[in-house]
Amino acid sequence: MAEDLIIPQGSRSQQYEALFPQIQGLVAGENDLTANLANIAAAIKEVFGFFWVGFYLVKDEQLVLGPFQGPVACTRIPFHKGVCGHAYTKAETIIVPDVEEFPGHIACASASKSEIVLPVKNQAGRVTMVLDVDSDLLNDFSEVDQIGLEKILGLINEAWQ
Ligand code: SME
Repeated sequence: MAEDLIIPQGSRSQQYEALFPQIQGLVAGENDLTANLANIAAAIKEVFGFFWVGFYLVKDEQLVLGPFQGPVACTRIPFHKGVCGHAYTKAETIIVPDVEEFPGHIACASASKSEIVLPVKNQAGRVTMVLDVDSDLLNDFSEVDQIGLEKILGLINEAWQ
């Protein structure tokens, strides 16, 4: 496995296209959940330079901070709180163009202006974790990110969990 990431140029969708096989290579042959989530978060952060990229894992009936890249963050999020809790409860991707406009948004850092949170489901359809990506720019996420990130999350194998 090559540990060097090539930072793709071009449109965001071209960047996702070039990033996907690299993440596929990073996780190939590795079955440790923490190691793979850590590399996935690092690769996304390195390519796009987002403010914060990380996972919250479903544990003890709440969302608990997992591997991430960026400033320190809230450790535990109740299922009914924040964008992460909302994505968990609805079991769907949430894009928030302006976090100030989202009732109940949890501000781990005031620099965060927009965010996208995507659930990861197991084969039974149960959400086992969410990926939270925060930007210091307003309105930084679109369907392009949703498609690109959902494809990457499709690499997360239940056998790792
Ligand atoms: N903003 C998130 C909390 C997590 S941090 O931003 C890293 C939320 O509202 O769920």
